[in-house]
Amino acid sequence: MKLLIIIGLAAVWCDAAQWQDRRFPDDFRFGAATAAYQIEGGWNADDKGESIWDRLTHTNPDFIADRSNGDVAADTYSNYRTDVQMMRELGLDAYRFSIAWSRILPNGISSKVSDAGIAFYNNYINEMVKYNITPMVTLYHWDLPQKLQDLGGFMNPNFHEWFEDYARVAYENFGDRVKHWITFNEPREICYEGYGSDTKAPVINATDIGTYYCAKNLLIAHAKAYHAYVKDFKPKQGGVCGITISVNWVGPLTDSEDDRLAAEIKRQAEWGLYAEPIFSEYGGFPAELCNIVAWKSAEQGYRRSRMPEFTDEERTLVRGSSDFFGVNHYSGTLVSATHYKETHPVPSLLDDAGVGVYNPPEWPQSASSWLRLSPNSLYYALTHLDTKYNKPIIYVTENGWSESPEDGYYIDNGRVEYFRAKLNDALDALEAGVDLRGYMAWSLMDNFEWNQGYLERFGLFEVDFKSEYKERRPRKSAFVYKHIIETRVVDPYYEPDSLTMWIDDGHYFQSAYYNNQYSSGPFSVSYN
Ligand code: NOJ
Repeated sequence: MKLLIIIGLAAVWCDAAQWQDRRFPDDFRFGAATAAYQIEGGWNADDKGESIWDRLTHTNPDFIADRSNGDVAADTYSNYRTDVQMMRELGLDAYRFSIAWSRILPNGISSKVSDAGIAFYNNYINEMVKYNITPMVTLYHWDLPQKLQDLGGFMNPNFHEWFEDYARVAYENFGDRVKHWITFNEPREICYEGYGSDTKAPVINATDIGTYYCAKNLLIAHAKAYHAYVKDFKPKQGGVCGITISVNWVGPLTDSEDDRLAAEIKRQAEWGLYAEPIFSEYGGFPAELCNIVAWKSAEQGYRRSRMPEFTDEERTLVRGSSDFFGVNHYSGTLVSATHYKETHPVPSLLDDAGVGVYNPPEWPQSASSWLRLSPNSLYYALTHLDTKYNKPIIYVTENGWSESPEDGYYIDNGRVEYFRAKLNDALDALEAGVDLRGYMAWSLMDNFEWNQGYLERFGLFEVDFKSEYKERRPRKSAFVYKHIIETRVVDPYYEPDSLTMWIDDGHYFQSAYYNNQYSSGPFSVSYN
């Protein structure tokens, strides 16, 4: 018995020593992320132009699960100073947000620059800089100006000109303070979901060529904006420019050669299509997928491959065009060459990949059908990218967990468990030598979750969308994340017991979390 107790105590001490010794470096940047359409509101404030999400939600409300839209959302357009106070309260080193293209260029093209739009982002950025919070700006997070969609959007081969001009306007106006630029958020979701299927605006559903043509045009636009920065802005402004790609882990179901190849094809279809042309040594689309699409296209009677080619000049332009790899990571899945196959439209990206996907039911499920806590998934993804692309600088630009508005509203233990697991993955990756520079939690606050409207909540802060001022209240996960940022350690036992978050410039009392009980105090927002 005595021996057992000693062994037990030793195990606890060893465990304790382990987590306490695993620290994030002092210069590691902890942050949180959001996107313009999901939080800003002010959809037609001042002279803002219409975006493809404005058009979709207004003309087809049934497309959104709760028939909602981003017209007002969390009203960051009015509440941006409150948002910065929340960042400050969490102790964030950095904040990732996006610019709404049609807020600064109402027509999409650069003929007219909106003074009001520029002023809004200037104020927002200045407020962050005032508190030493590094702004990390995404130029495109899915809200294409509708006028450009009317001209084909990402299917127009001249898309790169519109995007480069827009990027230059952003660099010119904000580049003195913004030193981290991300051109596109999640090319897969832009191209496959928006053009190659029917799940995101602009719902083009060209299953045969939509994804591939969009991918090529997007990559060229990214590269043009990158080179514009490097040539004309970086020498004076000294920042960095990269791209964010969604990299969920895809592993083989078994160790068989067929399953391992199937997993590789699936990785190529999910994110290799966008990562390979930029980060690989040779450039161009991933070889195996490219071959499959070429022979399937021939079989299907197409006169050319449904996957367009890069000319040598284009390949060189795109290759190496990123100072860092932005990784949005949420989940993982297992892939089989033979089992779990579903039927897909023919031709389509999923049919081209032709593999089966399995999600073990024991992996905890979030409120989002596609998001599970897949063990070590972030570690696998980061170490894989590190090896495959020769040690790129990596930022995790999004990582988070959804809960439905009913369960775990404030005591969001599922989210706490998820963040701890993924931050431990990040520590493992750092220990394995991955050049990981930062981690942005998704999301600072609840927001418009695209097709799911407000039914899936990702926020460290809850937003009461029914309230007049869109009141924000911290969840338990906000206190836990704050503690991690303060200590640079993931303490598996930390329980916030008697904490209060003050938004402390005299404006309002935010909320209190006490002994696992949540209570919200007197509340008012009075910035306006
Ligand atoms: C990634 C997207 O960038 C973001 O907009 C979205 O809300 C999250 N995934 C969660 O689905």
